[in-house]
Amino acid sequence: MNLYLDTANVDEIREAVKWGVICGVTTNPSLAAREDEDFAKILPSICDLVDGPVSAEVISLDYEGMVSEGRKLAAVHPNVVVKIPITPEGMQAVKMLAKEGIKVNVTLIFTVNQALLAAKAGAAFISPFIGRLDDIGHRGVDLVQDIVEVLHLHKLKAEVIAASIRHPEHVTAVALAGAHIATMPYSVLKQMFKHPLTDAGIESFLNDWKKAEAARKK
Ligand code: G3P
Repeated sequence: MNLYLDTANVDEIREAVKWGVICGVTTNPSLAAREDEDFAKILPSICDLVDGPVSAEVISLDYEGMVSEGRKLAAVHPNVVVKIPITPEGMQAVKMLAKEGIKVNVTLIFTVNQALLAAKAGAAFISPFIGRLDDIGHRGVDLVQDIVEVLHLHKLKAEVIAASIRHPEHVTAVALAGAHIATMPYSVLKQMFKHPLTDAGIESFLNDWKKAEAARKK
């Protein structure tokens, strides 16, 4: 399973890329709206930093608008993946963009049927939102598992991006559920490194080393 960062913040992406663990980025209009700079300026900077897919979402809701925005976004960089919501006009746009060789990530997926529709339209990626399902008392991870199984069963090519990840346990769960990718906030990626026994182990190794060194010098 690949790890992506779910952010439009260039500083977070620059930092996480240094750690060598992420190979893609997803954004959405809400994440872009949190930044001071215009998204049109942010997108090329993200693509310069990350050697992998960068999802950028359309704002239009009509077919023509989505296709035209999608083409413009895809022209920014070969790694740009156009993000389109699961609607009838959206899937019409996916079909057209896919025919032109433009990769699409279908977003706001909350059911297996929506995932099926996206895959049949030609989506390269499908994004179930697990945290938002958990929020309303459903099991987001179960949806990821079901989508992965259905895609596999019917030999559909789309990759599943588990999105709306809220904590490290979600990452483990979607990895076990067979997601191809987990996209997460910077804070969750940082938390993934942590365990109190790791910190305690580093401290005790260092203390033992220093004690032995001091004893040898006596
Ligand atoms: O990639 C989609 C994701 O950003 C949604 O996350 O936490 O707003 O549900 P959240």
